[in-house]
Amino acid sequence: MAIERLGPDQQARMRRAGAAAAATLAAVGGQLRAGMTTAEIDRLVRADTARRGGRSSQLGYRGFPAAVCTSRNDVVCHGIPSARERLRPGDIINVDVTTALGGYHGDTSRTFLIGEPGPEARHVVEVAARCLQAGISQLRDGARLGDIGAAISELARAEGCSVVRDIGGHGIGRHMHMPPHVSHVGQSGTGARLRAGMALTIEPMINLGGAEVVELDDGWTIRTADGSLSAQFEHTLLVTQNGCEVMTPQPF
Ligand code: MF3
Ligand code: CO
Ligand code: CO
Repeated sequence: MAIERLGPDQQARMRRAGAAAAATLAAVGGQLRAGMTTAEIDRLVRADTARRGGRSSQLGYRGFPAAVCTSRNDVVCHGIPSARERLRPGDIINVDVTTALGGYHGDTSRTFLIGEPGPEARHVVEVAARCLQAGISQLRDGARLGDIGAAISELARAEGCSVVRDIGGHGIGRHMHMPPHVSHVGQSGTGARLRAGMALTIEPMINLGGAEVVELDDGWTIRTADGSLSAQFEHTLLVTQNGCEVMTPQPF
């Protein structure tokens, strides 16, 4: 399916939606503490999103029951906030915020450290952050989709980690999820050609162990099959002539 290209007015709306999502992620991330439940994270995200004039794109999406995904330790993505799940010292947790504002969507996540996780946990989080940057560095008018996955999977392998293959990034704009599917593994020089004005997410999920994942009975939560730790970072990006613009900027 064709990948949309956004005009200047649409790009400006994306920038506002992206800035709101990034601000909410930063505000909520700064409040994470051991002892807090993931349901409290959901409440914080709802309040902060509303304060910025947005609404959560995730709430009710295909029946998703919360405003934010909270994915802790061996949860890869799509973790559902729960009053029974409490953050503990040494945990890692991805908080994935998607805000709809002015008819457009901004989607961004990062993995936070609770207390002082061990060296393996810190390693997978650092590798996931670097994998996002490696993917971003491929973007420019004329690049191919496969360039993104190639850069990410090469780095992950060099660092002894694996890349989740079953779930990827996506086009984004008037809807949270649009074509194309953005794989985090691939061959450089293959796949659809990117053009200035296209908006997409890159959101690599990086595992300390194997790449295999399982879905839980709740129909959402994705975990590593081997129970190993998993980390993820995500930005919404606009392809430009010579590179890209990060629509969800945060100091990483
Ligand atoms: N924000 C998630 C993503 O990066 C969307 C997950 S869909 C949900 O694509 F319904 F689980 F929220
Ligand atoms: Co997301
Ligand atoms: Co996304």
